[in-house]
Amino acid sequence: MEQNSGYPDIGLADGRVFVSFPPGHPGHRDLAYHRRRVTIAEAAFAAGPAAPAADITYTDEEHDVWRTVGAALADPHAKHACREFLEGADRLRLPADRLPQLREVSDTIEQLTGMRFSPAPGMLAPRDFYSSLAERRFQATQYIRHPSLPHFSPEPDLIHEVIGHGTALAHERWADVYELFGHAVRRLKSHDALSDVSKVFWFTMEAGLVTEDDEVKACGATLLSSCGELDNIARADIRPLDITAMQRQRYTVTGYQPVLFCADSFDHLEGTLRAYLTGAQDKR
Ligand SMILES: [Fe+2]
Repeated sequence: MEQNSGYPDIGLADGRVFVSFPPGHPGHRDLAYHRRRVTIAEAAFAAGPAAPAADITYTDEEHDVWRTVGAALADPHAKHACREFLEGADRLRLPADRLPQLREVSDTIEQLTGMRFSPAPGMLAPRDFYSSLAERRFQATQYIRHPSLPHFSPEPDLIHEVIGHGTALAHERWADVYELFGHAVRRLKSHDALSDVSKVFWFTMEAGLVTEDDEVKACGATLLSSCGELDNIARADIRPLDITAMQRQRYTVTGYQPVLFCADSFDHLEGTLRAYLTGAQDKR
């Protein structure tokens, strides 16, 4: 997942994995949770960024978080999710009773669309994250959010990755747009251009809305992996899909979204992103 401020600091120093939670993170003073995060980050570093993810032996408490989130999302998905998300979910068929392994979700997606997941220990530099998409590879985390906050995670965890992004990657039209983000970032060299692409990714693939039969529906991974985010749509300032406006808009990664952008339809969203991603240029 892509790096941004407000997230934990995760990396390697002198051959040892470190995880540092910022103040306000639900795991900030939880030593057992901290140790768990280090263990799971170690597995991702050991596997490497392009290899299949190693299986994690998830605890009963972690499986409980998955069951809690999955049960709570069932009705909001039926009510708020766009058609393409529901089609992707039907193809992916994530288990309801246990956490899936990132590797097994990856295997299913690869059969469906040629996309696959590879392991990320935590946040990645944006260029690293986007570049792998050009190879139809999505670098994803394997840890589980803190159990005290099952319905909102301040950072992308396995639940966000497989419910939000995995469902989209199981849908051919969506998977192709993810790949286009990768090619655009590989072509663009400037920091400003990368920042612009990141904002468009955020307001579409993470927090996008589409109109369907005169109703606003969620299509972004951040919205669709959080009951709180789906509830918040009703309180958000919803604006028409506008690439330039997105690039000027501030957003939050550690709270609910105050401003969202809504396309006229999924076709409108897909067509707008294809045109933007194939035509984006470095600023001169
Ligand atoms: Fe995400």
